[in-house]
Amino acid sequence: MSLIDIIKNRHSIRKYTDKQISREDLELILEAGNYAPNAGGGQRSMMVAVHNAELTAKIGRMNLAKFDRSTLLGSYVSKEQPSCIDDPTMKNGFYDAPAVVAVFCQNGFAFRVADAFCMAENMILQATELGISSCIISRGEETFASDEGQKLLKEWNVPENYSAVCFVIFGYIDGEQPQTKPRKANRIKIIE
Ligand SMILES: Cc1cc2nc3c(=O)[nH]c(=O)nc-3n(C[C@H](O)[C@H](O)[C@H](O)COP(=O)(O)O)c2cc1C
Repeated sequence: MSLIDIIKNRHSIRKYTDKQISREDLELILEAGNYAPNAGGGQRSMMVAVHNAELTAKIGRMNLAKFDRSTLLGSYVSKEQPSCIDDPTMKNGFYDAPAVVAVFCQNGFAFRVADAFCMAENMILQATELGISSCIISRGEETFASDEGQKLLKEWNVPENYSAVCFVIFGYIDGEQPQTKPRKANRIKIIE
């Protein structure tokens, strides 16, 4: 697949089979994240991969534990791949995907969010090339806010001046690929 086909064929997937991705594929996905552009060339972001379905589900539940749905009135994400916004009964913010990469960045850095999402984007494109489905997930900081969350960060040796920005979940799609959504008009202009 050419890069533009990979880009167009990538979809946020929220229905997964139990099949775990291989360690080899995970390492390639992490390598793609590691080579993402980063503000000022400072490489201030880092990734922790959880290659363990049980632990991934546990963190996924922590990800939604404090989710305030009251501000989401009218939000709608996807009929084919419903999100936790569409279905308030969902308890696992990682949708039972078997693997997750948590993306951390240095606190107080102006471009920490941008850096983290550049990493996430590189990872989802690499995953698509490998035939692996993915979805970017938010609520990084709140996921680890509890004592349980803080304990995990200590176990993983995440530096104290780093906090989670986002996650990327990985696995194999259960069912059909969704349709590519039509693009809104007037989002591109070329000035010669
Ligand atoms: C910054 C950002 C945060 C996102 N956070 C979530 C999230 O927390 N949960 C989720 O299910 N999807 C999340 N998504 C995925 C979007 O819902 C998805 O990209 C969007 O609906 C478009 O669908 P597509 O990725 O299939 O093209 C996020 C995407 C971005 C770029």
